[in-house]
Amino acid sequence: MSDNITITIDGVEIPAKQGQTIMQAADDAGVYIPRLCAYNGLEPHGSCRVCTIKINGRFQAACTQPVAPGAIIENETDEINDIRKSIVEMFFVEGNHFCMFCEKSGNCELQALAYRLKIPAPRYPFLWPDRQVDASHPDVIIDKNRCVLCGRCVRASKDLDGKDVFGFVGRGPDKQLAIDATARLVDTDLDVRDKAIDACPVGSIMKKRVGFAIPIGQRKYDKKPIGSDIEDKNK
Ligand code: FES
Repeated sequence: MSDNITITIDGVEIPAKQGQTIMQAADDAGVYIPRLCAYNGLEPHGSCRVCTIKINGRFQAACTQPVAPGAIIENETDEINDIRKSIVEMFFVEGNHFCMFCEKSGNCELQALAYRLKIPAPRYPFLWPDRQVDASHPDVIIDKNRCVLCGRCVRASKDLDGKDVFGFVGRGPDKQLAIDATARLVDTDLDVRDKAIDACPVGSIMKKRVGFAIPIGQRKYDKKPIGSDIEDKNK
């Protein structure tokens, strides 16, 4: 039996291969599905739910859900985008995100998602959690205020760098990024070339001394909305 199948996203038939996730098939077809915890080169995690879609009437995560012949998928609908908006808004209120002062502004996926989804302000009250900054490492800083707990650094450190620098501690609202050391980042084997640093979608794990190498206004998402690289692929 052929591995080639067809699925339908927002009324448009697209080709897919058995074994792909819906997100992979959509990416190949130039259809962007918003995402945060998914990252090229890492196994999908399915934790942020920004990639929520509807398949045959049921909500699923596009990054983990495999394609199936004849699947009818809704992606760009008001209902689904409002779910995505509310998730992104929750990320904003759960942490302390000061975009206007953040070195990652314009390169930040959370900020770019907010622009793409047209979020003027969160509908939920800000929690203003008390979180820490660890600037002990000579080349890297961690600002937990901006962490969205996507786990990309955790998986990248393990699967791409062959280390175990990052992990999580706590549960629910107390869940936090942790490092593999009793106290400080400098005590880990993190290297400034580690892929875990680049995997951070926000300004939580940052390289020192390069924050403003590209001026604000000329950065990736200053120029084009997030998802454009996928949508432009087959044009
Ligand atoms: S991108 Fe699919 S759950 Fe996060």
